[in-house]
Amino acid sequence: MNYALVTGGSRGIGRAICIQLAKDLGYHILINFRGNETAANETLSEINSAGGTGELLQFDVSNAEDTAKALQAWQENNKEAVIEILVNNAGITKDGLFMWMKDEDWNSVMDTNLNGFFNVTKPLLQPMLLNRFGRIINVVSLSGLKGTAGQVNYAAAKGAVISATKSLAQEVAKRNVTVNAVAPGFITSDMTKDLDEKELKKLVPLNRFGTPDEVAHLVSFLASEKAAYITGEVVNINGGIYG
Ligand code: NAI
Repeated sequence: MNYALVTGGSRGIGRAICIQLAKDLGYHILINFRGNETAANETLSEINSAGGTGELLQFDVSNAEDTAKALQAWQENNKEAVIEILVNNAGITKDGLFMWMKDEDWNSVMDTNLNGFFNVTKPLLQPMLLNRFGRIINVVSLSGLKGTAGQVNYAAAKGAVISATKSLAQEVAKRNVTVNAVAPGFITSDMTKDLDEKELKKLVPLNRFGTPDEVAHLVSFLASEKAAYITGEVVNINGGIYG
């Protein structure tokens, strides 16, 4: 059996990615969630309805110890298994002008979006290298490329993950492990539910927000054998706002 781990898989873009990977690639999906087990179970039943398999794996990506413990315990119970696909999707925003930004809003955004990437990727990398096949896909953001007023913390974290993506890709390419990022613009999810969609969509040449499914198709392609020669890349998915 082949295994894929999606962080923050209980809802939104993460849920769509879980379902798409199961459908397209037939991987057994490890659905990471932090607190909402009911939502994570809903993702699992959608995977099952699509004919796939999966299981829940609870940990907080921002907590190094919690993450290491959960991944170790899983590995001990699944000794021969290799997680070949890792999608670092878990993310949060704490928007506000930099001038007024609280320490905790800076730190929590860094801890989840940037340190979360480190905490999850580090323990999974060595098995992928020994396996001589792996796919790491980081969900970043338009903000991490172009910058956004009110998101200095988030843009800094996502920008750092973009640089980490390019650097790690160069370190591990020889072992057939690719590392890429996808950078969504406005996607309909809980993260964007309080935005003024009617106004903001005017900024988008395609004149609408994207859907989690559209992002999931891109991730699924990058995770597949078909994308074997793509690494260190950041793929925009933003309806034409920026490229
Ligand atoms: P969402 O808020 O619905 O989903 C985020 C997921 O991450 C949730 O399942 C949440 O529980 C999980 N999560 C947050 N902190 C976590 C932690 N410490 N440990 C484990 N899981 C944690 O939002 P959405 O839109 O689905 O976001 C998914 C990714 O896409 C995020 O990385 C976000 O930054 C990125 N993104 C979203 C855009 C959008 O317009 N919705 C645009 C650009 C990037």
